[in-house]
Amino acid sequence: LKRTRATRLIARVYSFAAGTVYEPLVVNGSFRLLGGRLNESIVEQGRMAAGFAGVMPLLDVPVGTAYFTSRTARRHRGIVVGADVARGMVASAARLARREALDNLLVVQGDIHSLPFKDDSFGAVMCSNGLQVMPNHRRAVTELARVLAPGKRVFVSVLTLPLAVCLPGSWSAHVPAVLGSAGVFVDALTAAGLTVVSVRRSRLALLFEADKPA
Ligand SMILES: C[S@@+](CC[C@H](N)C(=O)[O-])C[C@H]1O[C@@H](n2cnc3c(N)ncnc32)[C@H](O)[C@@H]1O
Repeated sequence: LKRTRATRLIARVYSFAAGTVYEPLVVNGSFRLLGGRLNESIVEQGRMAAGFAGVMPLLDVPVGTAYFTSRTARRHRGIVVGADVARGMVASAARLARREALDNLLVVQGDIHSLPFKDDSFGAVMCSNGLQVMPNHRRAVTELARVLAPGKRVFVSVLTLPLAVCLPGSWSAHVPAVLGSAGVFVDALTAAGLTVVSVRRSRLALLFEADKPA
């Protein structure tokens, strides 16, 4: 799949931010301001994902600087793969893995709309704070479901201004993720063949868990 112009631009912006403003301003600034206890909830999702995966590999996409993924990798008994489209993010995440001697954390560059992994490869999949910056969140969710093993769980968090609650339900598939209400993401997860088992809100953050049928 060719990367769209939008995806290339997003990758450039995040590559620049990776080594500069990303953790102080985004992770420890806007995530806390807009998401309340979002950061703590993602760490908790990572703990649950490690439990679900058992000894199978766990995927975290987008990995960003691995601020959250490194915490998940410390808890997981198997391999954790972190993927991100931005080269700068991949480099930052790989540096963190080396610095903290996280031998089970592997980082690759990849586009969530077309992940370079086989079907049913992962024992758990995480997608934290990513869908709101991606041009096609429904395709992204379909890819998460494709690479997840049957009987396993995906953990998603997303920050949105949920203006979609004012629109008719039939618009759900066309609303950009950043304006999505919980229903928009439940629709996308369900359309990807997953069963949504949990939906939570923390200020403007939404957190989902969804299972792939065994
Ligand atoms: C807000 S950050 C979240 C990163 C990390 N999960 C976290 O919570 O710190 C959004 C990330 O999405 C990545 N991203 C944007 N579009 C992507 C795509 N199409 N495929 C993979 N990663 C993408 C960006 O490079 C950036 O690292």
